[in-house]
Amino acid sequence: MCGEICGMLSVIAPRPPSREVPIAMATLLFGMPSAAAAFVGAGVSRTVQPLQRTSVIQSADIAEDPAGTFSPRESKILRSNAQDGPWVEQRSRPRRNRKSENVRKMVRETIVTPSNFIYPLFIHDESANVLIPSMPGCERHSLDSMVAEAKDAWQYGVRTFVIFPKVPDKLKTNRGEEAYNPDGIVPRALGMLKAALPDSIVCTDVALDPYSSMGHDGIVEDGKILNDQTIEQLCKQAVMQARKGSDIIAPSDMMDGRVGAIRDSLDSEGFTDVSIMAYTAKYASAYYGPFRDALDSHPGFGDKKTYQQDPANGREALIEAQLDEMEGADILMVKPGMPYLDIIHRLKQTTNLPVAAYHVSGEYSMLKAAVEKGWLDEKKVCLETLTCFRRAGADIILTYYAKQASKWLIEDGLL
Ligand code: PBG
Repeated sequence: MCGEICGMLSVIAPRPPSREVPIAMATLLFGMPSAAAAFVGAGVSRTVQPLQRTSVIQSADIAEDPAGTFSPRESKILRSNAQDGPWVEQRSRPRRNRKSENVRKMVRETIVTPSNFIYPLFIHDESANVLIPSMPGCERHSLDSMVAEAKDAWQYGVRTFVIFPKVPDKLKTNRGEEAYNPDGIVPRALGMLKAALPDSIVCTDVALDPYSSMGHDGIVEDGKILNDQTIEQLCKQAVMQARKGSDIIAPSDMMDGRVGAIRDSLDSEGFTDVSIMAYTAKYASAYYGPFRDALDSHPGFGDKKTYQQDPANGREALIEAQLDEMEGADILMVKPGMPYLDIIHRLKQTTNLPVAAYHVSGEYSMLKAAVEKGWLDEKKVCLETLTCFRRAGADIILTYYAKQASKWLIEDGLL
């Protein structure tokens, strides 16, 4: 291809002919850089650049294109820049804001910190811990071990905990009276946790399921979950927990009107400072399976679809949010998390209250399983997931990864 033309070029160009790059006629039509000399002949155009810039790809690096190769420059799709490199006429180049980790950090929109986490802890009234096979890395703690775990998490910046009890079958009834036993496992755990970490924020779950012989979040009659009768129990449970030092009451039962009733109960007993984190949009999800393994709280019959939301519905979450807000909730929660990022986002746009997301047991277990198989990088996927919750609009994230993620954030200097 070179031949005669290259010979002629060598007369006007200081560089050896073999280093010349065939370029498109289109370059000339777009306008030659003034510093460049051009030669046009026999239907082939060439430019010779007086400057050799090391930042520009050297012509020697470019293999000759076989005949018939599509030429973006000849087709006027690309221009040539002053260095005879291809130039997409693009002023706005978002990659500039990604060019180094420090630049990326400077423009980063969302960060996740240990202060955003709530660490769920499973407890039971036994002296030894029990591993939870479907939730690798989690265990059902003795009360002493729960305190030790909370203290360990505390040193990495975790400040907030939520406790979930496994209750022996012999204490379970349809009306779940054990839920408000002042000597029950939850009030004892609360006392120990607050004594060990007085500045911690302890959340307590309000629902009947750990105490229900029927395995439901409410009282069962004729196969139905009773709403108002259940709320009477939940109010007793919430007041008992407040008396024992709970900082945040977290009703996870999904009965209608429970937030308002619990708020009034707390206020009438003088607990105006005790907060309510409502499980606002809690879906009837299959992702809770491992949690129910952990607490042995699988529904005794049927499912929870008459009180938890249909996963197919988004607008319903907005109705729930409006109600919980009017009834006096301090924090609105969406649960599960990852498959419901759209709901987190929609809630965030409609409320000025803080929004929490529950990265639930099934989501945790899926990740752990893939990690165990060597298919995912645990640290990267975990931190990405938690960041995505924040980007979607979650102020707070309940996650079984709370301690581990805080450790990673510190180790990697990401705080
Ligand atoms: C029970 C409750 C559940 C979870 C939190 N509180 C399970 C359920 O509704 O059956 C699930 C949490 C998880 O899966 O991590 N009221």
